Amino acid sequence: MKRILSGIKPTGAPHLGNYFGMMKPAIEWQEKGEAFYFIADYHALTSVHDPKALRENTRAVALDFLACGLDPAKAVLFRQSDVPEHTELAWLLSCHTPMPMLENCHAFKDHLAKNKTPNHGLFAYPVLMAADILLYDSNVVPVGRDQKQHVEVTRDIAGSINRTYGEGLFVIPEASIIPQLATVVGLDGQKMSKSYNNTIGLFEEEKALRKKIMSIVTDSTPVEAPKDPAGSSIGALYRLVAGEADVEKMEADFRAGGTGYGDFKKRLFESLWEFFRPMRQRRAELASDPGAVDAIVKAAGERARAVAHRTMERVRTAVGLR
Ligand code: ADP
Ligand code: TRP
Repeated sequence: MKRILSGIKPTGAPHLGNYFGMMKPAIEWQEKGEAFYFIADYHALTSVHDPKALRENTRAVALDFLACGLDPAKAVLFRQSDVPEHTELAWLLSCHTPMPMLENCHAFKDHLAKNKTPNHGLFAYPVLMAADILLYDSNVVPVGRDQKQHVEVTRDIAGSINRTYGEGLFVIPEASIIPQLATVVGLDGQKMSKSYNNTIGLFEEEKALRKKIMSIVTDSTPVEAPKDPAGSSIGALYRLVAGEADVEKMEADFRAGGTGYGDFKKRLFESLWEFFRPMRQRRAELASDPGAVDAIVKAAGERARAVAHRTMERVRTAVGLR
């Protein structure tokens, strides 16, 4: 049976990029193997230094994931810090990770390019991610396209360690990326990301959501003029949430001219609101009993830890710590 693993950082409420890039595929994978998904709170510490926010975001991610269809009977949804073996393995992997490999990773390079000073956690973050993956002998890692590089780093580290201590010590994982899903765009046309402040949350209040959709950046093509549906963020987001016939209609209206962006935005809002309606309902039910959500995550942590414990026994022996 395939072992599937993925993680999401509790750096804010999940957004459409998280949902289509990672949560939805992860939920589909829960039917096809033994799935482990975790809330990456150690990772969030590289940027979240507010304890209250970290606690709240961690809960929000668990709630949203469950509301979107993660089934705790099928997938193990746990909190990373409930399994401290992640950090132990990260140290071990660090000792086999060439610095230039990390200097080449995009989060670190982005920081330098923006003249920000990265902390060591951010620099070493791909090593912790490799530990997350290798600890569970994962075969498949469903992630958005931006994480492909980190899975490559994981494969490189695991390969090098296997050559040192014996093939088979670590399973070499594979990223699973939905090919037809281009990166989900944000309100400003860049990649949707919490760090760019351009996100559309899955469960925003109706009024706030409407306002956000109306604020999507467009060009200044006049109402009467034909428009290019391919290059439009509105069209790209609409294709994710609307039915086929509605998408065709919008594209035809783009090309024909005579319809303004404001009208297209209203259609996007309606579809988005409908798309998440059942999940919103489920979320409200779950939110009425936060203790139950906490209990699901805690029990999952114990299951995950049992697996991590077995891997670490094997690894400690292989490297000579035992
Ligand atoms: P953010 O960039 O907002 O901080 P995360 O890094 O927490 O998001 O991403 C969690 C998961 O969601 C990852 O698998 C990532 O690839 C996916 N993801 C994030 N943003 C997008 C996006 N705009 N399009 C597709 N997938 C995304
Ligand atoms: N780095 C991922 C992100 O920013 C989150 C993550 C941490 C992850 N550890 C992981 C994803 C292990 C897959 C597997 O989105």
